[in-house]
Amino acid sequence: TALTQDQLKTLVGQAALQYVTPGSIVGVGTGSTVDKFIDALGEALKKDAGFVAGAVSSSVRSTQRLQALGVKVLEAETVTGLGVYIDGADEIDHGGHMVKGGGAALTREKIVAELAERFVCIADESKLVGTLGKFPLPVEVIPMAAAQVIRAFAQLGGTGKVREGVTTDNGNIIVDVTGLQISQPAEFERDVNQWPGVVTVGVFARNKASVCLLGTAEGVKTLNF
Ligand code: A5P
Repeated sequence: TALTQDQLKTLVGQAALQYVTPGSIVGVGTGSTVDKFIDALGEALKKDAGFVAGAVSSSVRSTQRLQALGVKVLEAETVTGLGVYIDGADEIDHGGHMVKGGGAALTREKIVAELAERFVCIADESKLVGTLGKFPLPVEVIPMAAAQVIRAFAQLGGTGKVREGVTTDNGNIIVDVTGLQISQPAEFERDVNQWPGVVTVGVFARNKASVCLLGTAEGVKTLNF
């Protein structure tokens, strides 16, 4: 019988443990797939209480789940480097570039990813795409610039909408953009990040995945980038 999406997430969450150097500080993202990684980490800690020395987390939700396991959660600004950052994605392409920010925490996610030597992306195969852009691209924007950023996306063929009722942890808004085909993710990220008022674009190219553990019907596939 076919594995459910939930079972695929469990498999990749468990597989991510192999990328954690025992005794190190691990970077932890957010989402339903990361929740499975945190569950697996809990099992590993039962066998070896020193499996991780601590964690840096990208959200309040993950912080609470880690602390419930007794993991010490450190502030990103106190850490000089991480071996791995483990997180999900909203989309990943065949080069390891991702779209993230469905949970509105993209800026913090990018900051923690930047600290890590390797980004290990965990995802079920529904996230793998040929070209990024089908998932509405989240962009964190300073409120004053919303209308002009939306006009600039219109020139690229995209339709931007302010996400209703959402203020980011940094006091900004999220614009979600549909209708884009992001075939040159690195150039796209560099370009959009320069637009006045853009805080963070949800394309992760500078901080792309080094590895993707993809849950498929045939089991976990490892994609190296
Ligand atoms: C959060 O802002 C996103 O970037 C998440 O990484 C993404 O939504 C993955 O979540 P799931 O594992 O629940 O799909």
